[in-house]
Amino acid sequence: MLVMLFQNISRGFASWKRVKEVLCTEPELKDGSFAQDTKIHGMIEFRDVSFAYPGSGQAVLEHISLKVNSGETVAIMGATGCGKTSLVNLIPRFYDVASGSVLVDGVDVREYKQKALREKVAVALQKSELFNVTIQENIAWGKEGAAEAEIRAAAAAAQADGFISAGTDGYDTLVAERGMSLSGGQKQRISIARAVLRQAEILIFDDAASALDLKTEANLYEALQEFCPQCTKIIVAQRIASVRRADRIIVMDQGRILLQAPMRSFLKPAGSTRISAILKWERRWRMPDKTSRIYQDICHSQMGEEVAYA
Ligand SMILES: Nc1ncnc2c1ncn2[C@@H]1O[C@H](COP(=O)(O)OP(=O)(O)OP(=O)(O)O)[C@@H](O)[C@H]1O
Ligand SMILES: [Mg+2]
Repeated sequence: MLVMLFQNISRGFASWKRVKEVLCTEPELKDGSFAQDTKIHGMIEFRDVSFAYPGSGQAVLEHISLKVNSGETVAIMGATGCGKTSLVNLIPRFYDVASGSVLVDGVDVREYKQKALREKVAVALQKSELFNVTIQENIAWGKEGAAEAEIRAAAAAAQADGFISAGTDGYDTLVAERGMSLSGGQKQRISIARAVLRQAEILIFDDAASALDLKTEANLYEALQEFCPQCTKIIVAQRIASVRRADRIIVMDQGRILLQAPMRSFLKPAGSTRISAILKWERRWRMPDKTSRIYQDICHSQMGEEVAYA
């Protein structure tokens, strides 16, 4: 008995040392003091922002200037590793910029109290994090004391209500650790429901619907427009068809904004093919060769999917 007790004590001691290390770590981000209400709601501005991850000298974002107005839906596209996640992560201040500034509602994110800032921003991440509790609790994690009707409405907007209600335990179904008992698309829809539940001013989807088929994804964005029409939406996506209802498209390449333009300017005008519409649009915007090539590649490679759901 004594030997076993001794083992437990020494194991407990080692664990305590690790837990203490985490608890005593000084946060790198210094909290600001601004927590007042702002005059504007849902406006984001990047002013000549450059960024590198802490500990790595290599710039991931360079000279990004971008303004997103209240209520606007902006799509961000670009090759994998070009910095889309890094860009959107600066809005809720998961990291600090190396130079320049990020403003939310006209106030620098470094001036906000982190709690106040993050109340304004809801994020559905590229990789969804679910906990070993019921589906209802997983969704409600986004908002303390959420009513059941609210949770169901958010799940319906996220196109998750169908598969949740079809299960025998419905919203009380227990989710396995890290969502192992759910499919990729189901996990994503639960984390989308969690993000929309809060009805925050700014809604960020970082490739959050990538596992959904195009039809479900289209239904999702339509439902979302009804569920929170006023909120500013930033949608990182890989497929043009996903974001064709956005107001503006931003194409990124190697940490820079390659082009930004209103979405409607290349939507198919009557009587012409989509490709010629794109070419016309490009001539109008007089884009450099590289820009138009990358943009054309994206469009050409996705024409099939887009036509199917246009
Ligand atoms: N935590 C990190 N620490 C250091 N470097 C990172 C970190 N996260 C990403 N990077 C680097 O930053 C660059 C941009 O990554 P980011 O995740 O923003 O790309 P992305 O456009 O979101 O790609 P994807 O489409 O694959 O999600 C990459 O070169 C990546 O290696
Ligand atoms: Mg990413």
